[in-house]
Order: sequence, then structure tokens, then C-alpha cells
Amino acid sequence: MRLIFLGPPGAGKGTQAKLLTERYGIPQLSTGDMLRAAVAQATEVGKRAKAVMDAGQLVSDEIVNEIVSDRIDAPDCAKGFILDGYPRTVPQAKALDRMLESKGLKLDAVIELKVDEAALVRRMENRVAETIAAGGTVRSDDNPEAFKRRLTEYREKTAPLSEYYAGTGQLKAVDGMADVDTVTAEIEKILA
Ligand code: AP5
Repeated sequence: MRLIFLGPPGAGKGTQAKLLTERYGIPQLSTGDMLRAAVAQATEVGKRAKAVMDAGQLVSDEIVNEIVSDRIDAPDCAKGFILDGYPRTVPQAKALDRMLESKGLKLDAVIELKVDEAALVRRMENRVAETIAAGGTVRSDDNPEAFKRRLTEYREKTAPLSEYYAGTGQLKAVDGMADVDTVTAEIEKILA
């Protein structure tokens, strides 16, 4: 099974992708997690991405396309994968189409989680509070200024992907305002 999760920052893409990973035994490919790992390890990609991510802007298409193409070739992706946070621009979606075609692979579904902006801000604030309470490190882009920018980037560059995938007939929308279990149940209905 090969899936894409679309949705604004804080929509629950990572939460749902992790749950499906357990259910279907396929990995979650989060470009955000991969980039944060590169930043933590101070790799060349990490050094180039850090300031852009901290400001809430999108990293270049070229960097993420390469990361995803390499990751898809790993043996644990043989049965499928869940793309969480990729593609995020129309050029990335077109690059993914070419990538999959060249590897002889096909997408099964594109699931869009729809959540109101006010709820997204509350979720980000909750995540910050929970991380601090657990003694963890708050994400450097989980602050009001960077989050506002992430929402703007989403509206301008990522939202057009709904139309792109509606055009290919692969888009399925899910109400992401419901609680986590209800959202999971809706997704499982789509995939059944
Ligand atoms: P990334 O890590 O992908 O962050 P994001 O898209 O902004 O999304 P989040 O991780 O904040 O949210 P999510 O939708 O996964 O929600 P979550 O499940 O965590 O990207 C970070 C940065 O990396 C980007 O800004 C960019 O710089 C760069 N980047 C990454 N990919 C890129 C790409 N392809 N191209 C260019 N740049 C790229 O949930 C959020 C919170 O809500 C959690 O606390 C959770 O517990 C809670 N929650 C989840 N579901 C529910 C629910 N149903 N009800 C109530 N609370 C819920």
C-alpha cells in the first residue's frame, strides 16, 4: 500500500501515519522527521535546511525529492509506505509521479485531513505544553511566528495539491476535526 497524507501543519498527519504503520506493517516516511534528523546530525543537507525550517518556510524541492527517492529504495519500503509531509508543492507532486513511474510503482490513495486553522494553532500549543511537561525539547518551528509562516506556506504552496490529486481521481478527504480514533476509523474505511 502506498499512501500520501496531505494536510496543514498540526492536522494529524504524523499521528495517523504512525497508527497505520503498525496496522499495515509499512514505514512512515516523514520528510519533516528526516530533515530534523539531518539538522541534528549537522549533515550538509541539515546545515542547508536548518534556518529555512526554523523560519517555517519550505526546504527546496530538489533536497526533499532526492531524500524521498533514496528512502523509497530502502528494503523496508518494498511492501509500501506512507508519505507524511511530502509532496508539499505541485513540482514535488510531479517529481513524485516521475519517481514512482521510473521505479514501476503506483499510489493507492491520497488522504487529506481537513482541520480549521484555529484548531491547528491550539494543537501546536498543546504539543508544546505536552513536550515541556514531559521534559522534551520543543520543535524549533513550534512557536507562534514560525507556525504562522507554516500556515501561509501551506495555503500558498501545498493547498493547490488538493486540486492536483482531485484531478488524478486519487484524493479522499477526511474530517480531521474529529478525535484521533474517529479519524483513524474513517481512514480505514477508505482503505478497506
Ligand atoms: P513537518 O514535520 O512535516 O511538519 P508539519 O507539516 O508542519 O506538520 P506537523 O508535524 O506539525 O503536524 P502533523 O500534521 O503531522 O500533526 P501531528 O500528528 O504531529 O515539516 C516541518 C518542516 O520541515 C516544514 O515547515 C519544512 O520546513 C520542512 N519540510 C518537511 N517536508 C517538506 C517538504 N516536502 N518540502 C519542503 N519542506 C519540507 O499532530 C499535531 C498535534 O495535534 C499533536 O500534538 C497530536 O497529538 C495532536 N492531534 C493529532 N490528531 C488530533 C486529533 N484528531 N484531535 C486532537 N489532537 C490531535
